[in-house]
Amino acid sequence: MKILLVDGTVLGRKTGVVLEKVQQYLEETKCGFEFELVSLADAEHAIVDGRPFDQYPESMQQLVTKIQEADGYIIASPIFQGSIPGVLKNVFDMLHPKAMRYKPVSMIGNGGTYQHHLVIENQLKPILDYFRCLVTPNYVYTHRDHFNENNELVDEDVLARLQEMARVFVHYAEMGPKLRPQDALDQGHEE
Ligand SMILES: Cc1cc2nc3c(=O)[nH]c(=O)nc-3n(C[C@H](O)[C@H](O)[C@H](O)COP(=O)(O)O)c2cc1C
Repeated sequence: MKILLVDGTVLGRKTGVVLEKVQQYLEETKCGFEFELVSLADAEHAIVDGRPFDQYPESMQQLVTKIQEADGYIIASPIFQGSIPGVLKNVFDMLHPKAMRYKPVSMIGNGGTYQHHLVIENQLKPILDYFRCLVTPNYVYTHRDHFNENNELVDEDVLARLQEMARVFVHYAEMGPKLRPQDALDQGHEE
C-alpha cells in the first residue's frame, strides 16, 4: 500500500514539517505501508487548460501520475486568502475524477489565524467528497503558535491529534482496497 503525504504548496515550510511528523506517527503504527512525502514545490506547474496530458511540464505529469497510482493520501494545505492554494486546486483539476475514489485521505490545514480553522472542512473536504475519497473524521489545523522559532512543531495537543489521525487513517486505508473496483479508471467523468 503506497501512501503519499502531499505538501500542497510551493511556498512555506510548516506544512512539510507537519507531514514529517505524521509520517513518523504512521510508521510507528507498524502498518507496513510505504510512505512518500511529495511537495508541490518540486514540480513545475502549468494552468490546467485542456491541452493533451503529454504537453504539460514533465514534472507535473509525473506528479499527477504518482497521485493517481497511490493508494491513499495525507494532504497538508496552508490557508491562502481564506482558501486552499491555487496550485493545489490546479493539481486536483488535472486528476481523473475516479483517481482517488474510495482512497483514504486525512487533511491538515495550517494558517496564520485561528479564525480560518474551518477552511479545510468547508473548502478542501467538498473537493475530496467530489472524488469520493474516504476522508477520515479526524483532521488537524495547525497555527504558527504551535511551532517554535526553529519551525519545529511543539504543541502537545496538536501532536496528539496528529497521532490519533494517523491511527485512524491506517484503518481507513485498510478499508479502501475492499471498496475499489478493478476498473477504477475505465469510465470517464460523471456527476
Ligand atoms: C498569500 C498568502 C495568503 C494567506 N492567507 C491566509 C488566510 O487567509 N488565513 C490564514 O489563516 N493564513 C493565511 N496566510 C498565512 C499562511 O497560511 C501561513 O503563513 C502559512 O501556512 C505558514 O506557513 P509557513 O510559515 O511555512 O509559510 C496566508 C499566507 C500567504 C502567503
